[in-house]
Amino acid sequence: QWGDEGKGKTVDYLTERADVVARYAGGNNAGHTVVVNGKKTVLHLIPCGILHPTTSCVIANGTVIDPGVLLQEIDRLAEAGCSVAGRLHISEAAHVIMPYHRVIDAAQDRMRGKNRVGTTGRGIGPVYADKAARTGIRFGDLLDRATFEEKLAFALEHANALLTKVYNESAIDFAAVRDEYLGYAERLRSHAADTVDLLHTAMAAGKKVIFEGAQGALLDLDHGTYPYVTSSTTMSGGVFGGAGVGPGQIQGVVGILKAYMTRVGEGPMPTELKDAAGERLREIGKEYGATTGRPRRCGWLDVVPLRRVIQLCGITSIVMTKLDVLTGFDRIPVCTAYELDGKRIDRFPGRISQLERVTPVYEDVPGWKEDLSRCESWDELPAAARSYVRRIETLLGAAISVVSVGPDRDQTLVRRDPFG
Ligand code: GDP
Ligand code: IMO
Ligand code: MG
Repeated sequence: QWGDEGKGKTVDYLTERADVVARYAGGNNAGHTVVVNGKKTVLHLIPCGILHPTTSCVIANGTVIDPGVLLQEIDRLAEAGCSVAGRLHISEAAHVIMPYHRVIDAAQDRMRGKNRVGTTGRGIGPVYADKAARTGIRFGDLLDRATFEEKLAFALEHANALLTKVYNESAIDFAAVRDEYLGYAERLRSHAADTVDLLHTAMAAGKKVIFEGAQGALLDLDHGTYPYVTSSTTMSGGVFGGAGVGPGQIQGVVGILKAYMTRVGEGPMPTELKDAAGERLREIGKEYGATTGRPRRCGWLDVVPLRRVIQLCGITSIVMTKLDVLTGFDRIPVCTAYELDGKRIDRFPGRISQLERVTPVYEDVPGWKEDLSRCESWDELPAAARSYVRRIETLLGAAISVVSVGPDRDQTLVRRDPFG
């Protein structure tokens, strides 16, 4: 969807069976929540497998790293009794978010006016733009003082011209940034790794690896609701470039699906509810951004884009989250098609101007009144809740193997092995 589906919870749950977890895309625009025995942890860049004490975690080359934020995350985990020493490995090829990326991100979005994307302001667009323009600074560059100084001087020349002449912002001081980032480099140096080699060595030894995505498929740079997207490949296919593995090495693709839609930031959302029902989803689902705290826009499940996402990502099995949030609605509408200019369409329109004009066509599914959060098995779910899940399976043409009924690790009902 558009992010915040419960990837954090699900990756933590799936990590039970994994030896290594590798994050392959995005940066600290992500906010992934994991709850274990009532204790909540929000991760922005470190893979959600980290809470399993023996799992190795990889921040792969496709990610972008804000080293100050990463260090805060490491410190916070340590305070909570979770050490990353010896098991957090960072690709030297991952690009580094610099202070000018954050300033340009905010200034650029402001300049877009009514067409703003509503970015997280973390510098994501500008850092990926520098990567593509070949002016970026990689984590490996940061570890080598002379290389870093040379690259920073060159990058600042351009960034400062842009900041002062186009965006009316102050210039950024070379020495201050150099010293700050060299300090980060010293603290992170021991985590630097050739993560491609590490992952392939693990796989060759028969270890199980989970590749963790970030953001939502509809925020994908190519296939999402452009330009209201993020700047990385968020689909499963991002793993090939983003972590350096080949198609034959992937044994299953688990899609994580929230039982309804949410979106943070701008851009079309056909099933958005601006009424009491939307408010209720937001309050019961606690739909406030894990990164920026912004209220999330809420609406009914929309299978039109999701049928396409299943194709785009080659999804072999689905984990459905937050089914418990739908308790108490008499009928639960599900969007199965759109009306565009008086015609019914089943396909997700590629053109944003068309998507902005569609009206959803709903099918109502009967609701239920029971609290689901204490159910311990699929069979304990009320019949109407099971019917909702089955109806979504039929509409999507894909199997839902696991259903989540609460934020905690153990509020997870398994119908069948998601990788089976
Ligand atoms: P992510 O970005 O996909 O990892 O998702 P977020 O962590 O941003 O948002 C998901 C929110 O829903 C978090 O607060 C989770 O703790 C919570 N959550 C996950 N699964 C469930 C569930 O099945 N039921 C409920 N009520 N909350 C859930
Ligand atoms: P997780 O991994 C929800 C959205 C932003 C904005 C757009 C572009 O927690 O699901 P960016 O800062 O990436 O340039 O912003 O993408 N966005 C997310 N929305 N969850 C996320 O991550 C998001 N990451 C980016 O709100 O609309
Ligand atoms: Mg999130």
